[in-house]
Amino acid sequence: MKATKSKTTNQITETDSEKLKELFVDGLKDIYWAEKHLAKALPKMAKNATSDELKAAFEKHTSETEEHASRLEEIFGLVGEKAQAKKCAAMEGLLEEADEIISSTDKGTMVRDCGLIMAAQKVEHYEIASYGTLRNIARTLGHSDVADLLQQTLDQEGETDHKLTELAETYVNEEASAE
Ligand SMILES: [Fe+2]
Ligand SMILES: [Fe+2]
Repeated sequence: MKATKSKTTNQITETDSEKLKELFVDGLKDIYWAEKHLAKALPKMAKNATSDELKAAFEKHTSETEEHASRLEEIFGLVGEKAQAKKCAAMEGLLEEADEIISSTDKGTMVRDCGLIMAAQKVEHYEIASYGTLRNIARTLGHSDVADLLQQTLDQEGETDHKLTELAETYVNEEASAE
């Protein structure tokens, strides 16, 4: 970014603010695409999971993911933009990885669950990174209402990530190594 920031006052100029808003809206479009595609991929992950606990975690996060997409629509409205999705190559790649896990592991095994947890946690970490940055930019732009909405989603992504770690630690890894 151009060094238009004042060294002494640390204030952003009007041009900076416009460019930052552009970057922000672009980030919203990216994560909107990611959420919409994830909402379609999660039911497949739930269907292919071995344990009931992992199936339930994926099912719960499917409805949360749909909620995240609607929340983004609300956010687009709040910043005066049309809700628009822009292909997110990162999420596309992560979902391809999840598909590969399903095709390269045997049905009904805990090894498959371990693989699915790994794929799902990569997705959650991508979302956490994206929402954390977007929330910070929203604050900088003075949109505290938007920052609060982004924080709500960020909290749910974090909870999902913790739930997956818990599942991996409590039984999946143990049972998978015993197979
Ligand atoms: Fe999400
Ligand atoms: Fe998520």
